[in-house]
Amino acid sequence: MAELNCSESWVLIGIVLVLSSVVWLLKKKGEEKKNGVPRGSSGWPFIGETLEFIACGYTSKPVTFMEKRKSLYGNVFKTHILGKAIIVSTDPDVNKAVLQNHGNVFIPCYPKSICELLGKSSILQMNGYVHKRVHALIGVFLKSPQLKDRITRDIEKTVRFSLSTWMDKSRHVYLQDETKKITFEILVRVLLSIGPGEDMDFLKREFEEFIKGLICLPIKLPGTRLYKSLQSKEKLLKMVSRIVEDRKMAMEKTEDKGFPNDVIDVLLRDAGESDGTHCLPLDFISGNIIEMMIPGEETVPTAMTVAVKFLTDNPTCPSPIGGGEHGTKETEGLFLQRICLDGLYVLAIHSKLWRKALKDVKIKDYLIPEGWCLLASFSSVHMDDINYENPCEFDPWRWDKTGAAVSSNTFTPFGGGQRLCPGLELSRLEISIFLHHLVTTCRWVAEKDEIVYFPTVRMKRKLPIIITPLQQ
Ligand code: HEM
Repeated sequence: MAELNCSESWVLIGIVLVLSSVVWLLKKKGEEKKNGVPRGSSGWPFIGETLEFIACGYTSKPVTFMEKRKSLYGNVFKTHILGKAIIVSTDPDVNKAVLQNHGNVFIPCYPKSICELLGKSSILQMNGYVHKRVHALIGVFLKSPQLKDRITRDIEKTVRFSLSTWMDKSRHVYLQDETKKITFEILVRVLLSIGPGEDMDFLKREFEEFIKGLICLPIKLPGTRLYKSLQSKEKLLKMVSRIVEDRKMAMEKTEDKGFPNDVIDVLLRDAGESDGTHCLPLDFISGNIIEMMIPGEETVPTAMTVAVKFLTDNPTCPSPIGGGEHGTKETEGLFLQRICLDGLYVLAIHSKLWRKALKDVKIKDYLIPEGWCLLASFSSVHMDDINYENPCEFDPWRWDKTGAAVSSNTFTPFGGGQRLCPGLELSRLEISIFLHHLVTTCRWVAEKDEIVYFPTVRMKRKLPIIITPLQQ
């Protein structure tokens, strides 16, 4: 047989490689189908379907990515985004099973830049016994009547003061930014009892730098976004560690163990085991104080801003506010609660949760193989007209029909199960107090704006608004 020349050999090697890849892919697909791995497409090599996923996020209908695939493959499908093979679930029962997490088979699984910034012992990444303990400690404190009583006064004071300064300006203020100032102040007070002043300004500045790196390329070289964010985290840690150490020393000197002032107190006082071992280390407490600012920092002001946008866009909404036939304090309260719920609903903030399966799991007939990431998408559940009538419309009255629980199979803005947001009641309190003071003491005119959903949910122009006193 004639010998092959060099270029013919390369062609032959190429053909063999392509054919074996095709056979391997077909075999893998066959196996996956047989095992129940959800159907779907892996898109282009390396980038998968990332571009379409991001492009949909920038539109006012971010669920189109999910909708298209749902119609092709069903409620649970496979895709490849942000460098990972991922199973996406838009099925309320599958999402519920993931949230309930019986047998602890699912653990959080974030994009690489977030993991770098959080640290391994962050409540947002931790699992098992210590997670359960810390989650319970914070949850009990944040919903305690003592804290609510005290913080209600603080929130009212901060909201009243902010509204008066906005009215002073007689030019527009950017509501998204201004509400962020209010909620950051409350958050910092609850976590580490810092009031307005130099320390607060420092925290605000460095925290803003820190979170800019949450969604970025995971490259840790001087000058990169991730590097700058890690430097800010160092500065924050230095400051918070100093406060935690001072507090620990003061605590050792006093017998008085009244109601804790803040989350630092709660974590420092936890005695661990009955023999006093396994107390939470001080660096663990400092790190978690900073990391706990992440879930509350943008969500609450966004919910407030979106609620104001809805009220602005629906001036004829039959509101019982300000007297009239049904204008009692209770009906006003109920109405504001429903606006707050509808804000959370239409927005579906935190509309996706990222998890990784620690072993093969079968839910309904779907197999989630070990090591795969699962993206539980709640927005597509909220936006499904099987679950909600006119899902895309502002309708505060829908909660009269469906009930106003903030955690059910089809309404989970605060997640659920072992990781149910411990800030749930605090957030609702802040949003309701803010809306109450705004609608009962001010009138406002807002400029045109729209909601965008990527990389996080927010108003595109931060909702410019002019506010004047109601009595003028
Ligand atoms: C409208 C406001 C808020 C929304 C929509 C929201 C939503 C959520 C969601 C969906 C989760 C679950 C994440 C997961 O399972 O991976 C979560 C967790 C968490 N949230 Fe919130 N949150 C809000 C406000 C807050 C506030 C104000 C705080 C702090 C005081 C807070 C602290 C936390 C913490 C510490 C976790 C982690 C819980 C754990 O993994 O054990 N959140 N939040």
